[in-house]
Amino acid sequence: MTRREVLVPGQDGPAPRGPAHQDSAARHGAHRVEPGVPRAVDPSEGADDDAEYDADLRPRRLEEFVGQPDLVEHLGIVLQAARGRRQPVDHILFAGPPGLGKTSLAGIVAAEMGVGLRVTSGPVLARAGDLAALLTGLQEGDVLFIDEIHRLHRSVEEVLYPAMEDAKIDILIGKGPTARSIRLDLPHFTLVGATTRTGLVAGPLRDRFGFVGRLDLYEPEDLEAIVLRSARILGTEVEHEGARRIATRARGTPRVANRLLRRVRDFAEVRGDGTVTAQTAEEGLTLFGIDGLGLDKVDRAILGALCDLFGGRPVGLTTLAQCVGEEPDTIEDAYEPYLLQQGLIQRTPRGRVPTARAWAHLGAAPPEAALF
Ligand SMILES: Nc1ncnc2c1ncn2[C@@H]1O[C@H](COP(=O)(O)OP(=O)(O)O)[C@@H](O)[C@H]1O
Ligand SMILES: [Mg+2]
Repeated sequence: MTRREVLVPGQDGPAPRGPAHQDSAARHGAHRVEPGVPRAVDPSEGADDDAEYDADLRPRRLEEFVGQPDLVEHLGIVLQAARGRRQPVDHILFAGPPGLGKTSLAGIVAAEMGVGLRVTSGPVLARAGDLAALLTGLQEGDVLFIDEIHRLHRSVEEVLYPAMEDAKIDILIGKGPTARSIRLDLPHFTLVGATTRTGLVAGPLRDRFGFVGRLDLYEPEDLEAIVLRSARILGTEVEHEGARRIATRARGTPRVANRLLRRVRDFAEVRGDGTVTAQTAEEGLTLFGIDGLGLDKVDRAILGALCDLFGGRPVGLTTLAQCVGEEPDTIEDAYEPYLLQQGLIQRTPRGRVPTARAWAHLGAAPPEAALF
């Protein structure tokens, strides 16, 4: 059996570190780790030494969760109401680009409800039996977190429907003509799903969630607060201006902000006195190839392909992905949200096009025709 998941007590402190902790379990089999040098601003976990730090830096309670004010308020109400009724909270789906806090929120839901957390992920649950075993092992009220829920196999998804709706599971006993199906009661549980895009989740599954929380890219002020919080946990001295420089280049993503902080910390220790100042932040970030907008090599390759190679004509996702040597999904989930938010590219029915700002950022002039 390749599935691995661990029970993480919701309330008492950080999950144990090491290969069996919650995050590596969620990640196991879920993300491909690309060969080669990890990129400093790749928002997906698995690049670099994130998994280890993610667990330490992860907010554990709702009040520690920085930013996303609307989501935090709504979620707070949903959790409080469920606590008041002494019932498990409704099934929850978190959607948003990688590194914005979906896994953290799943842990927070369990912690705030004071219940156990079970972690698994869509690609890891290969067979219906895997999910059945997991469901029947839950305690009353537990949170079951399924990361990358859009990658669940159809046959596994079908086990989930009666489980979510009626806390029941159909189990097939025997084989051939004598086989029969019996319906078992499950403990009442809360399913928390995470996906990079709600559009990827099958309609019938999406409809069974009582609450859908969408995470947006973070504002620089929030990222600054996250950098300062992480610096405290890591025991690194960071000046406000240093945190601000890191925050503005973290492409709206806490995981990237934390990673840049660690890189800049290394730089400050080697080249300075260990304190992250505006100057060490600036120099460190430049050294690691991150430009003033927080774009790295792949981002610039995307803009370069759109501007130089295609001269501003619309480019399809697959073509674009091939040009920069990334998977189309990675481009769409991890790169485009920030490039769109920064107004560097636009999505049109015919493909992606660069904006005037993209040309300016590359220091090139757009051809007349591309502007109109
Ligand atoms: N709102 C937040 N406040 C503080 N830190 C955060 C927040 N969201 C994410 N992080 C940090 O970013 C890291 C990645 O978050 P995670 O929940 O794993 O994202 P996702 O599951 O969406 O990829 C966490 O370890 C945590 O340190
Ligand atoms: Mg996650």
